[in-house]
Amino acid sequence: SNGHPLAGRRVLMTVGSTREAIDPVRFIGNRSSGKMGYALAEALRACGAQVMLIAGPTSVPAPVEMMRVDVESALQMRVAVMVQVYTCDLFIATAAVADYRPEAPVDGKIKKTEATMTLTLVRNPDILAEVAALPKPPFTVGFAAETDDLEHYARDKLEAKQLSMIAANRVGDGPGGFESDKNALICLWPGGGRRELPMMSKPALATALADLIAERYAAQSAG
Ligand code: C5P
Repeated sequence: SNGHPLAGRRVLMTVGSTREAIDPVRFIGNRSSGKMGYALAEALRACGAQVMLIAGPTSVPAPVEMMRVDVESALQMRVAVMVQVYTCDLFIATAAVADYRPEAPVDGKIKKTEATMTLTLVRNPDILAEVAALPKPPFTVGFAAETDDLEHYARDKLEAKQLSMIAANRVGDGPGGFESDKNALICLWPGGGRRELPMMSKPALATALADLIAERYAAQSAG
């Protein structure tokens, strides 16, 4: 794919979920199969990009022969991203990062002696926002999964985190979303840019999204 805007570009991606330890055997986590992230990684590779994955736990296998660093928690994911981010051209955050982590993971397995227990949680760092706030940020792409007011929240997130692009999908009702094989996206970028990618299989959607990322990356690089 000579002449493709993503040919030879370095793409750093977070994929999967994160697990926040409560004790050595228990964690707080969230639903993310990693399907969309891995499909997008494959589609970007097909565009000639050099893809590096920072991967939390996923329920689907990673693409073969793709560079990958495996992590568990949000803090580990953040460190792995910051090690690689200065040499990447694009940063794409598909991971479902836990918003909170237990303040102090317990060393030994917690026993069920008490009738109730209280966990104190603290906010995790926002990896995507931190990357986008770097002095010379890469082209940043975020995702927004929302149940209501999809476009409104996505536009807010695009602006709050100062992203180059955001891809929003509806979750909770009907087809699409985390465990589903199909999805649809509304993509937004600064200056009122908007493109709808209709409901289709995750691989087909990944290809359409990779094409749009390439288009927007080229447009931004051109000034
Ligand atoms: O604000 P919200 O969590 O909805 O934003 C989602 C986007 O931000 C996703 O692209 C996700 O990968 C990224 N994110 C992150 N670090 C966090 C939380 C979200 O990189 N701690």
